[in-house]
Amino acid sequence: MNHFDLIDGVLHAENVSLADIADAVGTPVYVYSRATFERHAVVFRAALSGLDNPHLAFAVKSNPNLAVLKVLARQGYGADVVSGGEMDRALAAGMAAEDIVFSGVGKTAEEMTRALKIGIGQFNIESEEEGQELAALAAALGLTAQAVLRINPDVDAGTHGKISTGKADNKFGVGIHRAQGIYARLSILPHLHMRGVALHIGSQLTSLEPLETAFQKVGVLLQELRAAGHVVTHVDLGGGLGVRYRDGDNPPDPAEYGAMVARVTKDWGVRLMFEPGRVIAGNAGVLLTRVIRVKPGAGNAPFVIVDAAMNDLARPALYDAWHDFEAVVPNGHKMLANIVGPVCETGDTFAMGREIDPVMANDLAIFRTAGAYGATMASTYNSRGLVPEVLVDGDKFAVVAERISPETILAAEHVPDWLK
Ligand code: LLP
Repeated sequence: MNHFDLIDGVLHAENVSLADIADAVGTPVYVYSRATFERHAVVFRAALSGLDNPHLAFAVKSNPNLAVLKVLARQGYGADVVSGGEMDRALAAGMAAEDIVFSGVGKTAEEMTRALKIGIGQFNIESEEEGQELAALAAALGLTAQAVLRINPDVDAGTHGKISTGKADNKFGVGIHRAQGIYARLSILPHLHMRGVALHIGSQLTSLEPLETAFQKVGVLLQELRAAGHVVTHVDLGGGLGVRYRDGDNPPDPAEYGAMVARVTKDWGVRLMFEPGRVIAGNAGVLLTRVIRVKPGAGNAPFVIVDAAMNDLARPALYDAWHDFEAVVPNGHKMLANIVGPVCETGDTFAMGREIDPVMANDLAIFRTAGAYGATMASTYNSRGLVPEVLVDGDKFAVVAERISPETILAAEHVPDWLK
């Protein structure tokens, strides 16, 4: 459920007309709904109510906007971060350091040192080498790092190849068959407190089956670790739950996910941790755009050229992702169209041969389900500015990330004296 609906024939975010936002802020612009973020945060937490005190860490990478993080912090969410930059954002949003989990295959010594100094809650170690380095850094500071070992369960998540992370040939975690040995060697290092394992097999999962298979494998590993004398108190089950992008998508309900987790983990005797991103943020945002012009196409579908492009919303170009396209003032009819942006490559295509609300030059429209992996993946390709973000709350809204103009970006570049 989300709060982007028609009111008197005009698409609104909660009680604010998207036309008013376009007038005030210009387009393209991401528009988020606070009520939707909160609802998703509450629903996900409720889905896990059968568990004993689960730890919820919002995957910052899905939407790192400071105001968005603040909304989730107020819902009691911590953060899953993958860089020093994301860590700083989580802290700036008021999340407690101990509620932050640090994932990622390439944590630098500088990032790990900073994380240790702020007292980060947990490192999700992705290799033996990283664990050894972390232990040495912690020793140098006289601190102890809380850590779990991320395992790669070699399960096919059944999602797009570029967002699958739990197959043996993916770069993430350590192979499950090597996990025991590595865990044992890391456990004896002073200044490193190994307290469990983590996994995350991929994103936009539309079936619970691969998750359950992976969790079962972790259950077996847990027994083996305990049999070897290790004390295991934490298991981080990652994120990955898919959302509905288009009619016919049938992602698992968070409640079904929660029931599966409760069933599979009932004898584990650990504190479970979660890193949801898309399921919280996906449907809480849209990308608001204006049609620049419509030009004839080769067949019977014209090209609708909008002012948003692949640099603002990269998912269609990267993963052939579908985002519903709707006019802000639909008239009930339909037209067949190809929706493209102004960027100079054919990959800058949002949809081909799609049935859409009829639109003309200057009309406003949205791409739905753009709250996760939208603005955060924007670039300045073709010397376009960085798209702004707006947060709506009831009948008010605020710009929560400014548009960064091409002029500002140009001003950060310099021609050396020897070229002048
Ligand atoms: N935890 C870890 C360790 C992750 O790598 C990710 C996502 C998450 C949690 C959150 O997963 P979620 O609940 O959002 O599925 N840019 C791609 C998605 C990349 C996901 C990367 N990792 C897209 O636009 O589809």
